[in-house]
Amino acid sequence: MAETKNTSKAFKLNTGAAIPAIGLGTWQSQPGEVGKAVEAALRAGYRHIDTAFAYGNEKEVGEGIRASGVPREDIWLTTKLDNPWHKRAPEALRRSLENLGTDYLDLYLMHWPSSTTPEDLKKHYPDWDFVDTWREMQKLMDTGKIRNLGVSNFGIKNLERLLNEPSCKIVPAVNQIELHPGNPSPKLIAYCAEKGIHCSGYSPLGSSDSPLYKNETIASIAKAKDRSVQQVMLMWGLKKGWSVLPKSVNPDRVKANFNMDGWDLTDEEVAKIDSIPERFKVCGDAWLPVKVFFGDDE
Ligand SMILES: NC(=O)c1ccc[n+]([C@@H]2O[C@H](COP(=O)([O-])OP(=O)(O)OC[C@H]3O[C@@H](n4cnc5c(N)ncnc54)[C@H](OP(=O)(O)O)[C@@H]3O)[C@@H](O)[C@H]2O)c1
Repeated sequence: MAETKNTSKAFKLNTGAAIPAIGLGTWQSQPGEVGKAVEAALRAGYRHIDTAFAYGNEKEVGEGIRASGVPREDIWLTTKLDNPWHKRAPEALRRSLENLGTDYLDLYLMHWPSSTTPEDLKKHYPDWDFVDTWREMQKLMDTGKIRNLGVSNFGIKNLERLLNEPSCKIVPAVNQIELHPGNPSPKLIAYCAEKGIHCSGYSPLGSSDSPLYKNETIASIAKAKDRSVQQVMLMWGLKKGWSVLPKSVNPDRVKANFNMDGWDLTDEEVAKIDSIPERFKVCGDAWLPVKVFFGDDE
């Protein structure tokens, strides 16, 4: 089998930029832990960190980056515009940059296609939605503080609407979506590929208390390869063509999740994981004031 090198692999975006294939996730990474996790990841060789204003940890993520000693320009840093900030994108960007202690982002994502009022998170603005937000986010590119612009949690229906709007001048470079063997979303992946939008896979391990850790198909492949089920799921995502964003605050697991060189999955093993029938989603839209997912992903 050819020698694989995933830790230095990057996917080319429609902007010409290259997003590193493996990024550290930071959702639910607690204060006092997240900075150390970021530092451990960068020391282990990661060059891609994923955070969000909504995670409340941008400040500590920035501290972890600086503690690592890895130069800022060697790191791909993603953060996200939070739902109650859709009408205030310039201010939201300024705050995220200040929190992170950096003067630019490699990728700024609209976290959800939901323009929630700041006063009541159960309410959606009557006069504003994600199309308006994207129009305003596009203007942020003129500040020179964002290298790439993208979206997150966009299914086909919402992407179709966005791309058909005359105000949409920039095709999102990335759509960050839930992707694991329990939510492979082949139709959405194919749609994004056709439109030149790279997909980044969040919750690639199935998130906290993942039911996938007990999946027999994945476990048998992991056993045969002498790898962990987590490593097999990450390799499956990379083989499918998306970047993966495993979260861990445990330094050993941070390292293990980056142990992705010199081994591979065969096409047959990938196909076996593809054929796992069980479906589940970590992030639904029940907590949002609008419906976001329409079951059109596969
Ligand atoms: N755009 C969005 O709306 C969105 C939504 C969800 C997630 N995300 C992004 O995607 C990232 C990843 O998703 P996620 O955090 O939901 O879940 P995940 O990465 O699929 O799984 C994280 C869970 O797995 C555990 N874990 C990690 N590596 C492990 C290993 N090698 N062995 C055993 N357990 C392991 C972690 O615990 P320990 O920390 O204790 O190791 C944690 O409980 C997020 O952190 C965030 O950056 C984005």
